[in-house]
Amino acid sequence: MSDLTTEILKADAKGYARASAIWCSGGLVAFPTETVYGLGADARNDLAVARIFEAKGRPTFNPLIVHVENVTRAQEFVEWNDAADRIAGAFWPGPLTLVLPLKPDSGLSPLVTAGLPTLAVRVPEHPVAKALLTEFGGPIAAPSANPSGKISPTQANHVLVGLGGKIEGVLDGGSCTVGLESTIIGLSETPTLLRPGGLPIEALETALGETMVRHSTADPLIAPGQMTSHYAPGASVRLNAETLNEGELLLGFGPVSCDLNLSEAGDLREAAANLFHHLHALDAMKATAIAVSPIPQHGLGAAINDRLKRAAAPRD
Ligand code: TXA
Ligand code: MG
Repeated sequence: MSDLTTEILKADAKGYARASAIWCSGGLVAFPTETVYGLGADARNDLAVARIFEAKGRPTFNPLIVHVENVTRAQEFVEWNDAADRIAGAFWPGPLTLVLPLKPDSGLSPLVTAGLPTLAVRVPEHPVAKALLTEFGGPIAAPSANPSGKISPTQANHVLVGLGGKIEGVLDGGSCTVGLESTIIGLSETPTLLRPGGLPIEALETALGETMVRHSTADPLIAPGQMTSHYAPGASVRLNAETLNEGELLLGFGPVSCDLNLSEAGDLREAAANLFHHLHALDAMKATAIAVSPIPQHGLGAAINDRLKRAAAPRD
């Protein structure tokens, strides 16, 4: 389907009511969260969830995150435990997704979990996401609102460029403040980091009182979405660039002379918020080769470097 008119909805009562009505009738609406824009559909509706995969061109074995308005709602769908209680109490709402055992009577479409016995669930903090989830009153399945393998969207306009004509609506809530997807941790058994993201690992480990197991990307069954080439801009990407080669544009970090700077002050939070935004901008500038300054690995740097590594990975 590529001949839909994608409605641009405002972040007001009328926009929320319209988005909710589209979800109720099985349609797709992209909406802002504090991390990135999500492509939402009713998580209980098989056809609606199937359309998410279709619109994104996403392999169906890759499961989706369910978004709910609060912890009580999350507990309707997953088996809760003490670690989940501690972590959700400290960090929800926020840029954090928990993977927990799926309840057998959850009522969710099996497409959401792609057949896994676990569910990824998240309570976002963005006021527009909260208002929408409250208005709709049900679980919303939402991957990032970009075509599969492309850069995640941090503005409504990014969504329109990638998915315009394929989805019913996009709710425009401005730029995402965190700018990186949520951190994903598995809490079914030993706490495991499945994807670094908008919540620094150090903060999670302090709250847990233990070091998390780092999931190895070599095991595709645990986090099937962690494919190596991902977040890819049109241009080639070279990392840890101290000098610039002929024909390259420099995506800088810190006090360097460059085409676009993630953070002149060397602030990792600012760099995270700018990352996808700048990659989209370099795409729009028709860059063919991008060099990226070295980024430190602590705090949000771990997630930034993870995304950059995938953007630079060989593509097939
Ligand atoms: O910030 C975010 O997390 C955004 C916003 C929209 O919430 N969403 C997002 O979704 O990044 P997506 O689909 O692009 O990434 C979700 C990741 C995928 O790598 C997927 O494989 C993994 O979560 N995932 C989902 N369910 C899982 C499960 N049961 N076990 C392990 N990994 C799971
Ligand atoms: Mg994604």
